[in-house]
Amino acid sequence: MSSGLITTAYIAAGVLFILSLGGLSNQETARRGNLYGILGMAIALVATVLGSEVTGYALIIVTMGIGGAIGVMVSRKVQMTQMPELVAILHSFVGMAAVLVGIAGYLDPEMHYAGIEKTIHEVEVFLGVFIGAVTFTGSVVAFGKLRGTIGSRPLLLPFRHLINLAAIGVTLGIGVLFVGAQGMGYPLFGLIVMTLIAFGLGWHMVMAIGGADMPVVISMLNSYSGWAAAATGFMLGNDLLIIAGALVGSSGAILSYIMCKAMNRSLANVILGGFGTSGGTVVEGGQQGEAIATSLEETASLLKHAKNVVIVPGYGMAVAQAQHPVFELTERLKKDGVNVRFAIHPVAGRMPGHMNVLLAEARVPYDIVLEMDEINDDLGDTDAVLVIGANDIVNPSALEDPNSPIAGMPVLEVWNADTVVVLKRSMATGYAGVENPLFFKENTRMLFGDAKESITGLLAAV
Ligand code: TAP
Repeated sequence: MSSGLITTAYIAAGVLFILSLGGLSNQETARRGNLYGILGMAIALVATVLGSEVTGYALIIVTMGIGGAIGVMVSRKVQMTQMPELVAILHSFVGMAAVLVGIAGYLDPEMHYAGIEKTIHEVEVFLGVFIGAVTFTGSVVAFGKLRGTIGSRPLLLPFRHLINLAAIGVTLGIGVLFVGAQGMGYPLFGLIVMTLIAFGLGWHMVMAIGGADMPVVISMLNSYSGWAAAATGFMLGNDLLIIAGALVGSSGAILSYIMCKAMNRSLANVILGGFGTSGGTVVEGGQQGEAIATSLEETASLLKHAKNVVIVPGYGMAVAQAQHPVFELTERLKKDGVNVRFAIHPVAGRMPGHMNVLLAEARVPYDIVLEMDEINDDLGDTDAVLVIGANDIVNPSALEDPNSPIAGMPVLEVWNADTVVVLKRSMATGYAGVENPLFFKENTRMLFGDAKESITGLLAAV
């Protein structure tokens, strides 16, 4: 393929990536955005493989075949609730690729430059390997925490901030010695020592982050993996990798910022790992009064006689796969003249947009699905709120208890409605492990059971 054609293909792929991000920012255009992304990546892969530097086609076809087959198998098997884990482990691949390509680029005799070009190349190698190594171990720990193989509590080592600062200081020192050093032996040793330190730093930073901050961590790691790819793009002189890396890096950073605001966590705290997480204690037991249980019949009668109903879906709706009966219930109530709307918390479920995806899958119309900021003020004028498998996102202690681990996180203020019915299986805590005073309020009723079974029961009873 001529270099002109490759450049044209790269520009087309770059434009498709930008269109893809634009499409993904809205649920109505998300499907189209996804298609643009797939098309852009296919063009990018073909153009790169057909480039003049590539020769070993047999090996590339075999590895792409194996990688593609694993990708198809995993994506067919993965449950919606396991998506964040999958994303985390995929970030780790990007991180490891940046480490390996960086070290290989340093060792490649054809990539040896002189003067300022040598300095630039060494900076690119050093940065790419550093960010890649932090991303790799950080993502593996995030994967373990989301999967439950590693506990979700933060690991708060004594002097942990000093440990992080020392690791960054030593890395900077090695970097200064590495860039501009002559010969191969000593700088290579420095590069390997730095890689090991960066592996440790990524591990420690994410281990120090508590469960409730995990969504931000995943999105930050997404951003790191983008910057690692961009640094690799500079090193390889591949413009498209630079563009794609920068798009992933900046969109991940923006998403992290938005999520930090939604969870009232500062970005600096999350990046540095564990700042401010030691203040509160995670309450796992304890009682705050009597929770009042209700029945399917009582709840059905409440819904039938309500004018305004708001449904708050949470992680439990995803676990129970209750979105389809929830849609049917919505349609039934709407037919009876009830105004039904959905309230979506920005971190409901286990990934950004989790609830929107499930509701879209069940064909719930977009115009009755509202964001937290759009609906919070209306909850006071609502007759009944149905909380389906949600917990942390409707926890009043976030606003009322400064010592709560989720203090300051904006929540859906469902307790302002006339009656709140919470559908869950037990009195167990949610992801953050914090007891929820909502369950003990006078206007709250607990409808115990699996969310799908309860909603199906309600459908029969209304
Ligand atoms: P959670 O606080 O995790 O609460 C979910 C509740 O669903 C649980 O208390 C559980 O109670 C109930 N549940 C589970 N399976 C159920 C079933 N089959 N039927 C009925 N109920 C069921 O969820 P949330 O309110 O959506 O809050 C999200 C939490 O996850 C936040 O802390 C957030 O920070 C964190 N997080 C969010 C993300 C993103 S980006 N969304 C990513 C990672 C973590 P029972 O066991 O008693 O049924």
